[in-house]
Amino acid sequence: MNRTVIEKWADTVTPFYYYDLDLLRQTVETAKKEADRRGYILHYATKANANPKLLKIIFAAGFGTDCVSGNEILRSLECGADPGQITFAGVGKTDAEINIGLDNGIFTFNCESIPEMENINRLAEAKGKTADVSIRINPDVDAKTHEYISTGKKENKFGISAWDFDKVIAKLKVLKNLNLISLHFHVGSQITDMSVFAEVCLRVNSFNQWFKEQGFDLAHINVGGGLGIDYQTPDRNPIPDFAAYFAVFEQNLKLYPGQKLHFEPGRSIVAQCGSLISRVLYVKEGKTKDFVIVDAGMSDLIRPALYHAHHHIENLSSDGAEKIYDVVGPICESSDCFDKDVPLPETKRGDFIALRSAGAYGEVMASQYNLRLIPDSVF
Ligand code: LLP
Repeated sequence: MNRTVIEKWADTVTPFYYYDLDLLRQTVETAKKEADRRGYILHYATKANANPKLLKIIFAAGFGTDCVSGNEILRSLECGADPGQITFAGVGKTDAEINIGLDNGIFTFNCESIPEMENINRLAEAKGKTADVSIRINPDVDAKTHEYISTGKKENKFGISAWDFDKVIAKLKVLKNLNLISLHFHVGSQITDMSVFAEVCLRVNSFNQWFKEQGFDLAHINVGGGLGIDYQTPDRNPIPDFAAYFAVFEQNLKLYPGQKLHFEPGRSIVAQCGSLISRVLYVKEGKTKDFVIVDAGMSDLIRPALYHAHHHIENLSSDGAEKIYDVVGPICESSDCFDKDVPLPETKRGDFIALRSAGAYGEVMASQYNLRLIPDSVF
């Protein structure tokens, strides 16, 4: 962010989300190019950021979408998503949401339980339709990430475990309005250890083989999202290494002839293009340390409070000598702290502070706690 951009913000109400759309375009192009050359299909995980301006760029580049609610399906369609490329996941799809999927002819419902399969079958039958479905498998893999964003262990609520497969197959024989087309996996988010994905591949291979032996010729395998980004030094790695990520699957996954491989990246596409911009309200001198109190809080960006997540913090206005501060928000909770012991140039009231890498799970998770306004977005 250079000084001319910052001067333009003089009259802009803070806090706001700032998006670098050039970086988004470059990221989208890189991911798409690396996927295309391997014949892989990308469904952007809309939950990471559903801002229409971003969605339009992502869908215009030819991404499908992965949705977890009826409203995400509708938003994606409004922003140009191809209904035939929509996957619909989530353990608790309502009847109204399933009907949105059926009415729009989405690519597949990722089923997370047998009762859900029965319900989709009932609703499809009522419409005289057959729903293409995937089984979301819980592969019992440790994603080695924060426990709140780890989803593929047997104790997690997600997916169907191997011991239920016989029941699933018996059900599929009687549920005449379901058509099984794919196996789906997603073990967690912000995964930076590529060996986790290699382990997922080995599990996928054995499940894929098992379903083939039971007589299912599945056209698709979907390995979900999860690729992590560099929160520590975002300027060093603005675009994740998609080539290295896809190479893990190329090397470890055994697809049957004609089987297509699908991914659902969210964070890796949008995190680095977004920053939460706030102004310093006060600098408060404490006994042992000084506090920089900014006008953004955990209602605007909850990741540090919820997951102890690190977001790189920059003072965009000052060139002063370095000091150490705790950077905190105005909300009445001690967890409303963006980071402790942050080295910043000497900071004063009115300075612009950027919380970097906030494009994913930032704006979408904002709340009105303390009756605060949802932050605006600036491009
Ligand atoms: N597919 C499924 C089925 C998912 O549940 C998720 C994310 C994704 C794809 C996209 O994963 P990604 O590529 O973004 O890692 N709020 C948390 C992250 C929650 C992720 C939920 N599922 C955070 O701020 O870190």
